[in-house]
Amino acid sequence: MTAQTVSAPSTPMTAQTVSTPSTAVAAQTVSTPSTAVAAAGTTTTAPTRTAGSSGAVGTSRTRLEGRAKVTGAARYAGEVPFAELAYGWLATSTVARGRIRSIGAEPVLAMPGVLAVLHHENAPRLKPGVGMMGPDATLQILQDDRVPHVGWPVALVVAETPEQARAAAEALVVTYDEEPHDVVFSSGHPGLHAPDGGPRARTDTEKGDIEAELAASAVVVDEEYTTPEEYHTAMEPHAAVARWEDGRLEVIDSNQGSHAVAQDLAKLFFLDATSVRVRSEHVGGAFGSKGLMRPHLIVAAMAATVLDRPVRVVLTRRQLFSLVGFRPATAQRIRLGAEPGGRLRALDHDATSFSSTINEYVEQSAQPSRVVYAADALRTRTRVVRLDVPTPSFMRAPGWAPGSFAIESAMDELAEKTGLDPIALRLRNEPEVGPASGLPFSSRNLIPCFEEGARRFGWTDRDPRPGTRREGRWLLGTGMAAAAHSAGTAPSSASITAEADGTFTVRIAAADIGTGARTALTQIAADALETPLKTVRVKIADSDFGPAFLAGGSMGTASWAWAITEAAAALREKLAHVDQIPGEGTTARADTTELVMAMRGQERYAFGAQFAEVAVDVASGEVRVRRMLGTFAVGRVVNPLTARSQLIGGMIMGLSMALHEEGIRDIASGGLVNGDLAGYHVASNADVPVIEAGWVGDPDTYNPTGIKGLGEIGIVGVAAAIANAVWHATGIRHRNLPIRLDRVLTAGTAIENGGAGTY
Ligand code: MOS
Repeated sequence: MTAQTVSAPSTPMTAQTVSTPSTAVAAQTVSTPSTAVAAAGTTTTAPTRTAGSSGAVGTSRTRLEGRAKVTGAARYAGEVPFAELAYGWLATSTVARGRIRSIGAEPVLAMPGVLAVLHHENAPRLKPGVGMMGPDATLQILQDDRVPHVGWPVALVVAETPEQARAAAEALVVTYDEEPHDVVFSSGHPGLHAPDGGPRARTDTEKGDIEAELAASAVVVDEEYTTPEEYHTAMEPHAAVARWEDGRLEVIDSNQGSHAVAQDLAKLFFLDATSVRVRSEHVGGAFGSKGLMRPHLIVAAMAATVLDRPVRVVLTRRQLFSLVGFRPATAQRIRLGAEPGGRLRALDHDATSFSSTINEYVEQSAQPSRVVYAADALRTRTRVVRLDVPTPSFMRAPGWAPGSFAIESAMDELAEKTGLDPIALRLRNEPEVGPASGLPFSSRNLIPCFEEGARRFGWTDRDPRPGTRREGRWLLGTGMAAAAHSAGTAPSSASITAEADGTFTVRIAAADIGTGARTALTQIAADALETPLKTVRVKIADSDFGPAFLAGGSMGTASWAWAITEAAAALREKLAHVDQIPGEGTTARADTTELVMAMRGQERYAFGAQFAEVAVDVASGEVRVRRMLGTFAVGRVVNPLTARSQLIGGMIMGLSMALHEEGIRDIASGGLVNGDLAGYHVASNADVPVIEAGWVGDPDTYNPTGIKGLGEIGIVGVAAAIANAVWHATGIRHRNLPIRLDRVLTAGTAIENGGAGTY
């Protein structure tokens, strides 16, 4: 999902493709904020319109399924009704490490409505070694007696009603042979090692002599920054219904990619790929947690197979905190060495995080340091330790989000030490080519983001001195940070049918996880077919539509749009040469695998500049973000309305990361203390100030659609911008997230005593 396949388009654009990205994007500038005020006090950005054959791309459109969603007509995986539906409820382990000694199924089977208790001794056997991105042992549910963490599935209870299933699962007595566990992460953990998860996980880079350059530097920053466990907390819990119908395993699931999930499900159950169909028409948020197949679907398929009737499994909010991934805690040491004028001689980013004993997921937090700044010597290093905890996974801007907190905080500290304006410091270290790779950028419009953002935010006259602006009990400050995120493209396939009635049906196994993807793809198809939007119907999220990339890695729209554009070209070609048979449709298919595989040799990223203003009361510990502004270079923008929603959504998640989110692990039990929405704090409307998001022109024809993707970059850099603003307000650096009340209070005491430090 984070893998990046990028390169120049190998084929010239044909007349059938959508309007040329260079013209389309050139027309986009940061739009003026309209006076219209949307929910949560955010201001909207006026829509921009770009050239396009039928003008659909670049025009703001509300979601095509919006009415169905707000009226409840849209059904999610947990809601679709079936006759004879049975309900599964997971029982999960209460110990962090050990073996299951016994499962007291007998008394539970006698409870009202209970149909089955599946566990490691009676559940269907699964094929080992299956996984979307290599063997994924988190899929091996109910296969053996080993318990790798608190919250691991130990049984599935199936009953006639969800209430009966829940009561029985809660009554199930499971005993364990416990073993000592280790759930405590730090950058000094002796188990830290170089990732062993294959070439993609091994990402260390080294250029120049880092120690020599540091020794020769007039100004040095050497600090450790930490981020805690963070959880996706998508609104819709993971849910699936599985049933056998006409010899096929038919599934309705909540995921980010129906085709990939169907492939894995087939393999796992020793089935032919054509015997499995997965659909996920509506998905209520994911943020990475629904990218891979998850346990709810596996146990639903097991139960449907054993009972030969439809079975639904919905995870509880608490179960989501141990079964669908999370962002692991990170500890990152940054060493910067600079000349007095701010030019970097050395940049060293040493990132550590943890994974489970089941799978080695590696949070690639050093990524931004390979991309954003030039330095004579550059070193990035990533280490991981395996603990007795649930398996972490991709979470919005994996690596980029926690990594940017570290490097963008350190750059602010360097600005302070060199007496430079934070933007001026960054301009001084703008690279010509990829700092680690030496490869050219497909496009790099970070500087326009700084300039446009600074102008709109009102950065120019900023007094750099910290702790000097007071408004009643509040100290005020502003901060900024750079943002970057990879903008890759992955193979996808699509088909388009010219229907006999003059309309078009597009089929692609894309996922709309709440982003507006369905609407954006309809706009893309309308322009590619040069037909009005209302004549195009886009069907998504059905594995029968063929391979398509996940809604992940900020690659969904770019990858799917290319496939649709190719299919449209093929259809137009076909219609020009073939007489349409009256009453029948004509269909063309396209698969971009070869086109994508031919791409190489450039680095491709979206960029951005984040600005924040905060008010801090050091006596109460409160930090209030008063306003935020993000300016981005994200290639071509398909639907300005939903693009803005994506960007401010990411920025709000970044605010939440800066001030609130923190999974707290109990050393004694090994479980989370706050694994629910009461204890795990997520920013609510009252925390969210006026937020503006806009974009600058960013022509990029590397992928011929010109789309870079913008689902993740919104969160990148926000936590640093806020922490930098808190420093500007108070003079205190917060190098550990989140910037909690107690940390601010401790800092406040230090200010009174004239001291400074890390909190
Ligand atoms: Mo996203 S974290 O790549 O699903």
